[in-house]
Amino acid sequence: MSQPLLEAKGISHSFDTLLFSGVDVTLHPGQSLSIVGRSGSGKSTLLHICSTFIKPNEGSVALFGEDVYGKSESDIEAIRRYDIGIVFQFHYLFKGMTAMENIEVATLLAQEQVDMALLEKLEIAELMEQKIGELSGGQQQRVSIARVLSKKPRIIFADEPTGNLDNETASLVMEVLFDYIQSHDAALLLVTHDLQIAARCDEVYRLESRTLHKNSTSLAHV
Ligand SMILES: Nc1ncnc2c1ncn2[C@@H]1O[C@H](COP(=O)(O)OP(=O)(O)OP(=O)(O)O)[C@@H](O)[C@H]1O
Ligand SMILES: [Mg+2]
Repeated sequence: MSQPLLEAKGISHSFDTLLFSGVDVTLHPGQSLSIVGRSGSGKSTLLHICSTFIKPNEGSVALFGEDVYGKSESDIEAIRRYDIGIVFQFHYLFKGMTAMENIEVATLLAQEQVDMALLEKLEIAELMEQKIGELSGGQQQRVSIARVLSKKPRIIFADEPTGNLDNETASLVMEVLFDYIQSHDAALLLVTHDLQIAARCDEVYRLESRTLHKNSTSLAHV
């Protein structure tokens, strides 16, 4: 099998109390993995640990075969800019700028072109000249997804990317994400409360009782 894009091993983390321990996450090219679990169980924290933003108390995270938290800040910054894309639970778009300007910030930094076909697919091509503050929550969410995909990352970390969307638009966004990972040999780590969307990933895990469990066939009680 190919080398994993992400390999997190033996991860433990606490803030005031222990959130989780002994967590392993592995992602190969073309693979999608979802994490479900109750609010406050630590899903976003785990996603931030796997995506260079939080150094865990214990354990190791390797991206593209290299240990992350032993790297210099500038090397970590380069991974964020070129190699990974993060759809944050809260979008972090620049409010005073237009939708297109927000996307261009990422593409200029990553030296990529804005992919107009992607904007069409996400049904946001007509909104590009509008200021972010004039867009609905779901439209902003799709702009933030376009911003992430436009820089052509090898791993997408997506924290509730369909949280503000109706079922039809959520489905469309997931199709765009799955098409992207297939056509670019990339991988997707998805955090969601939507069990039907979680189940569309190759593997489903549940963060519960302070560790990560491979989900059994029934998602009914998550
Ligand atoms: N930077 C921080 N400092 C202190 N505590 C934090 C910090 N970030 C998160 N926490 C705490 O860690 C716990 C897990 O938070 P996290 O955001 O990972 O949960 P989550 O599973 O993503 O929840 P949700 O489904 O509501 O998004 C919460 O109790 C939260 O208050
Ligand atoms: Mg969260």
